Amino acid sequence: MFDNFPLWPERASSMAGNVDALFIFLLIVSGLMTLLIFTALIYFAARYRYRKGVMAEQIEGSTPLELTWSIIPMGVFLVIFAWGAVVYFKNRTPPRDSTEVYVVAKQWMWKLEHAEGQREINQLHVPVNRDVKLIMTSQDVIHSFFIPAFRMKQDVLPGRYTVAWFRATKPGTYHLFCAEYCGTQHSGMIGSIVVMEPAQYEAWMSGGSTGPLSASGEKIFAELGCVTCHRSDTQGRGPSLQGAFGKPVLLSDGRTLTMDENYVRESILDPGSKIVNGFKPVMPTFQGLVSEEQVNALVAYVKSLAQPGAAAAKNADVATPEGAPAKEQSPGSQVQ
Ligand code: CUA
Repeated sequence: MFDNFPLWPERASSMAGNVDALFIFLLIVSGLMTLLIFTALIYFAARYRYRKGVMAEQIEGSTPLELTWSIIPMGVFLVIFAWGAVVYFKNRTPPRDSTEVYVVAKQWMWKLEHAEGQREINQLHVPVNRDVKLIMTSQDVIHSFFIPAFRMKQDVLPGRYTVAWFRATKPGTYHLFCAEYCGTQHSGMIGSIVVMEPAQYEAWMSGGSTGPLSASGEKIFAELGCVTCHRSDTQGRGPSLQGAFGKPVLLSDGRTLTMDENYVRESILDPGSKIVNGFKPVMPTFQGLVSEEQVNALVAYVKSLAQPGAAAAKNADVATPEGAPAKEQSPGSQVQ
């Protein structure tokens, strides 16, 4: 209906229809209310206008009338609330086994890195009809990752990860904007999302990778000596990370939390803040020693340790010369 209406952005994600439907509903409700209010206003102004010799009559309220104008709007607002909540939660919850892309924002560009290792700047290539999860952080100030055609917008903050997801439904090239004023070149912090057919995407993916992100993470893990304490047996000075990601963690203060991207990140940069039960706060901070990209790689590595059999396949891949990723390296994410 709005496809040829230039004021309406293109609709190219699984979420776009839901967001538009709610938005159109809000427009219709607001329009009807405006019409109702102005009709009544004009009618009453004419009907009860001042006339010589006619005295105004004082009316002392009406319970049925007050109930009506309280209950009907409440019903309408509850519909908006429930509908909005459904769309919101769907929008906030990345489906399991989404393809993962790490995003680092900085003044004034977007750096994107696929879990498979491809790096891009101000451009993101994704396959059509696949869930893509974005794990985002900023190197400096607050930015906001905005793809109008996908009806997707998420603030990108320094010092933590925020997550967003989308599923593109139409091949094509779509605008990427920064939607949070972030300095003089804010308006130039733009890019494009290239949605490709699976075969095309596979061809694109097969070029120019330096191996999966988790493999770079493994290398950094070894270089920084993490591996001396976080051993895969239970004898290390730090907790074993084997199979730990996504599982609950009991902390020394009795709290339990789920080991997610933000917890791994915090444990690297501020290791003393949430100690795993039974361990001593002996880990030094790596704040200032690792870049955002390196933290992302470490997170990807820790994550990969939670997938059974992933380590072996990954090691094989590291050995591949000149970065051409072995075809069997990530079958799940290559084949639709
Ligand atoms: Cu980045 Cu505005």
